[in-house]
Formats: sequence, C-alpha cells, structure tokens
Amino acid sequence: MKSLIKIIYDVVVGLQFGDEGKGKIAQKLALIPGFYQVSARFNGGPNAGHTVIHEGKKLVLHVVPAGILAKLRVNFIGPGCVIDPVLLKKEVEEIQALGFDSKTIYLSELVHLITPYERVIDKKMNGALGTTGKGIGPTYAHKANRSGLRVSGFTKYINSPKVRESVKWDLYLEESRIYKDTYREESFDGLLFEEFEEWFDALVWLTENISVAKANFFLSDGEVHEIFTDRSDIRILAEGAQSVMLDNTYGTYPYVTSSNCLPSYAPVGLGLPGKAKKGRVIGVFKAYNTRVGSGPFDTELLDGSGDLICEAGKEFGSTTGRKRRIGWLDLPDLQYACELAGVDELYMTKVDVLSPGVTGSVSVCFSKGGGVATYKQFDAWDSSRIKRDTDITGSFRSFLDLVEEHLGILVGTVSNGPEVNDLVRTKPTPEGVGYVM
Ligand code: GDP
Ligand code: IMO
Ligand code: MG
Repeated sequence: MKSLIKIIYDVVVGLQFGDEGKGKIAQKLALIPGFYQVSARFNGGPNAGHTVIHEGKKLVLHVVPAGILAKLRVNFIGPGCVIDPVLLKKEVEEIQALGFDSKTIYLSELVHLITPYERVIDKKMNGALGTTGKGIGPTYAHKANRSGLRVSGFTKYINSPKVRESVKWDLYLEESRIYKDTYREESFDGLLFEEFEEWFDALVWLTENISVAKANFFLSDGEVHEIFTDRSDIRILAEGAQSVMLDNTYGTYPYVTSSNCLPSYAPVGLGLPGKAKKGRVIGVFKAYNTRVGSGPFDTELLDGSGDLICEAGKEFGSTTGRKRRIGWLDLPDLQYACELAGVDELYMTKVDVLSPGVTGSVSVCFSKGGGVATYKQFDAWDSSRIKRDTDITGSFRSFLDLVEEHLGILVGTVSNGPEVNDLVRTKPTPEGVGYVM
C-alpha cells in the first residue's frame, strides 16, 4: 500500500463579528520557519478583508490565504469558498506586483463562482442585512439549490464565443426569473453582458496565472502527494474568514454571513481526508468589539463615545470602507465563541488602541443575566511600554487576568500594533513549542 502523507491542520478563527486581525496573526504564524507547508481558506469569499503589512506595504487579502506572504509551497482556496473572478484577478495582480509566485495559489475546482447577477441581487438585499454586497449570499444559495457555477468543467470552455453567449443568456434568464419572483420587479437594469465579458476574461486569466486544484487535492491520489514527495507529513494553517458570531448557523442569525466559520468546518471546507488530524485552534479577538453591518450588538457604544476608538483603531471595513460600530469586550459572547470553536490559545489584538489619549477607561462586560449587561471598569493603559511579558502590569494585567479567568484559556499573545511583529508573548514561550512565538 502507498504510504500517505500525514496531514495536520491548525485553524485561526475570529471570535467576535469579524475583523479581529486574523490576517495578521495568520501571516505571523505562516512565517514560523519550516512549520507550515500549506496555508488555506475554507470559507467565505471576497466579503472577507484580511489586512496585512508586507515590508511596509499594506495589502488587503480577500480570498488568498496569508501564507502567500511567507512563500509557503501551497496556498489553497478550498471548496468551501466562493470567488468573484474579477476581484480575485485584482488580488492576484497585487500579489504578483509584490514579487510572489502566484502559481502557489491553488484554487479548488469545486469553488463556486459569483457572477455579476449575484452582485446585483446581493446589493438589493444590502438594506436589510447590511451585507458587503459582494454576492456571497446568492452564490451560496445557488450552491445549496444545485444551480450554481463551479470552477470545474467551466473554465476550459470559456474561450469559445459561442459558449460565452449561451452561458450569458442561460444565466440571464434564470437570474431574471429569480429576481422577478423575489422582488416583483421586471428584471435587471440591462443584461450586464459587458460585465460578463470582463468576468469571462478574468476567469481565463486566472487559469493562466494561478493553479486550478482537482477535487481530490488532499486525498491519496491527489496533487498534494506529488507536490510534497520529499515529506511524510504536512501541516496546514487554515485561516478562517468572518467569525463565530457571523457563522451561518451559530452566529446572530439572520444577521450573519452565508458560510460556516467554525474550525470544525475547516476539514470539510478544504476537502481533507477524514483521518487528517486537528492540531491547534488559535482564537483571535480584539480588546474591544466592533461590528460592521446590521444585527444585535449588546455592548455597543451608542452615544458617540466610541468615535475616538473608531478613529484610533482605524475601524473602517477592509472590504467596503464602512465605519465599524464600536462596543466593549463581551465576555459571555466570547465564552460562547471559544467553547464552540474549541480554542486552545488566544491572541488579543488592538490593545494599543485603548490608550489614555483615546479613552479614559476601558469596560468589559462580564455578565448579561436577565438581559442586563454588567461591566467592570479599568483604567486605560499605555501599551507602548509593553515590550515583553514582564512589562504587563497594572490595569492591563488586571484586564488580562479577568479575561483569562472568565474563559479559562491562556491569552498567550497580545498584539499592540498593525505590523506583523507588533506582538508580545504574555508568558515565556515554552521550550520546544514551535507554533507560539
Ligand atoms: P481580519 O479581517 O480579522 O483579518 O481583520 P481586518 O484586517 O479586517 O481588520 C484588522 C485591522 O486592524 C487591520 O487594519 C490591521 O492592520 C489592524 N490591526 C491588526 N492588529 C492590530 C493591533 O494590534 N493594533 C492596531 N492598531 N491595529 C491592528
Ligand atoms: P473578515 O474575514 C466583518 C458581515 C457583513 C454583514 C454580514 C453578511 O474580514 O473578518 P455577507 O457579505 O457576508 O453576506 O454579509 O456579515 N461580514 C463581515 N464583517 N468582517 C468580515 O470578514 C465580514 N464578512 C461579512 O458586514 O453584516
Ligand atoms: Mg476583515
């Protein structure tokens, strides 16, 4: 019998309403020398915006996992994702301009395609849910309805003008019917055929500039075994998009996204063999809380007092530029998210934002009994003095203690700036543990 490569996967997961800084943490972890061979995205699409800084340049990754910046051999966009070819082409062009090899990006042929029509339908829904308008919901709906378009089988025909024409008309008639049924309006404004030409061209461009991965990519007869002939095991860094509170099933439904965001979905959304081993779950949360779009937000600052935090934390959506709503850290919600996600270790980001110049005090909600939120208050802290574990003292130490006591999980690392190395270990790194820094 063929000897198979052993697969272990770690997952980075957001624990609030998205934008916790997952991209930066995934970038940092991917850079641990020799530790990961594969980085991967298992859910979501261009609704995600993961901001990373590479050699002083800011880059917003939407569907390409952050391992691309660490030159990992495989950077996989898994079957659980959806892509918009036009937006992915732009993203890959930016990555190429930074000098990275775009052929290490593997796009699963099982990924569903967002078409220009789905963008229109999503924008129509935008008012009620406050979606990103990128066509995510309608595309996952098509997938569930078995009427979606996948990368597979489609790309090789797309150069033929005849095929393009028939695809455009088929889609127009189908989407138009859905649009009329749902919104009782006649049809789209125009056929969007010009947008479709750009869309088809982008798809062709992608097949030439990135690698298309077969459905069995990680299985015994899949390409992974050809790529890693020199290894008996590989470790995957799975980078979650959105977050637990936006999960389609366990988040604040219906104010959620359309995919499953929990780490337990990672092996499904990547097509890993059932025997692949789960490694570590790394939970990421901000020292406060933000939400972009509609939906409940129990600890939201509704009196404008979050404006300074918004400004200091540059809390504007990475994908849509929308102003994020600001609130305090919500420990009961965080506890729920940690338990569902099975978090092994926590990373707390944006601790630098809560400085005395921005806010007089910092509150944390520790109970929501009977619908009433109860808070504990701390003095704001100056994180510029925190360079190592022994510098964690005073009100920041008490804040950290409260969080760890409440959750029963170590906050192993705090992040005090947007750069990849703006991180401080809160405890000395244990000997021989590669994945904590
Ligand atoms: P993601 O979607 O979870 O990857 O997060 P986003 O990229 O959407 O939003 C996080 C924002 O905060 C980005 O602009 C990051 O550059 C920035 N960021 C990450 N960590 C820190 C931090 O510790 N301090 C500050 N000030 N900014 C941070
Ligand atoms: P990252 O991965 C923050 C929010 C939208 C909206 C809801 C549904 O960067 O953390 P969708 O377009 O998915 O149908 O919108 O989910 N949302 C996000 N908020 N960060 C994200 O991704 C988000 N992706 C979706 O604002 O409320
Ligand atoms: Mg984001």
